[in-house]
Amino acid sequence: MKILIIGSEGMLGHDLVDVLSIENEISTTSIDTLDITDIDKTIETVKDKNPDVVVHAAAFTDVDGSESNPNLAYKVNALGTRNVAVACREAGSALVYISTDYVFDGNKGNSYYEYDQTNPLSVYGKTKHLGETYVRDILNKFYIIRTSWLYGLHGPNFVTTMLNLAETMKTISVVNDQIGSPTYTGDLAKAIAELIKKPVYGIYHITNSEHCSWYDYALEIFDIAGIEIEVKPVSTAEFPRPAPRPQYSVLENYNWKMEGLPEIRSYKNALREYMKLL
Ligand SMILES: NC(=O)c1ccc[n+]([C@@H]2O[C@H](COP(=O)([O-])OP(=O)(O)OC[C@H]3O[C@@H](n4cnc5c(N)ncnc54)[C@H](OP(=O)(O)O)[C@@H]3O)[C@@H](O)[C@H]2O)c1
Repeated sequence: MKILIIGSEGMLGHDLVDVLSIENEISTTSIDTLDITDIDKTIETVKDKNPDVVVHAAAFTDVDGSESNPNLAYKVNALGTRNVAVACREAGSALVYISTDYVFDGNKGNSYYEYDQTNPLSVYGKTKHLGETYVRDILNKFYIIRTSWLYGLHGPNFVTTMLNLAETMKTISVVNDQIGSPTYTGDLAKAIAELIKKPVYGIYHITNSEHCSWYDYALEIFDIAGIEIEVKPVSTAEFPRPAPRPQYSVLENYNWKMEGLPEIRSYKNALREYMKLL
């Protein structure tokens, strides 16, 4: 297949390039070669590359920064995604759009299925959600993939933040009342490569299996790294951030399983493998 990866210089983008180039003919764009807020350039680029599938992994991903700069978040995540969707329609390409667990409010108290009601709390979540809506309104051939708590080799993430903090601090406070599923970008890229082999369009939740709080996640990281440090559990109220976050945003990989695709390994196994590569 011919695949165009938009946002190839991002954390997920890098792994998408590595994984998708194994069996496909790929082309890439980064923010330097295509700013997705430019609709004419976006249409021209996609038409020129003429791919079977566009994988759109570009976004304004600063969750707290989106609260103070909502226009930029809206421009990139909502309008930029609309532009990519329009370009795919013009070129006849299918689109993979990467979305987030932050489209949910986290009040369900249980894992979210693809058909559950969305209700984003933050500016970031709202703009990503609007991106989903554009994709669904403009295209027939799309895969909307909601994922969560990404970490990978090619970008700053919670794991590297914890390891860096441990170099200078004796005690680290980490919130223990937000629950989710940390997901390795390498595993997500492999799942996307598998999914797009068939025209099974729709919404998919794709995360590593099992879940934890940020606090449990930090303990796991230090355990694997063999670092002895005091980790203090704190509540979200004690650790306020500009953007509200869902309390329980575990995603059930329901449609993935319904397609007969194999269970994605636990976040603990993925984390262990990733940390060996650091
Ligand atoms: N990270 C997470 O925990 C997480 C969780 C759930 C879902 N997601 C979603 O997963 C996808 C990939 O995330 P990631 O963590 O790999 O993000 P990332 O590392 O921030 O990569 C996003 C890329 O998009 C680029 N970009 C920003 N504005 C652009 C524009 N106007 N035109 C073209 N490119 C632009 C960025 O360039 P610059 O770096 O130069 O700005 C960056 O290379 C995103 O859709 C994100 O919303 C992420």
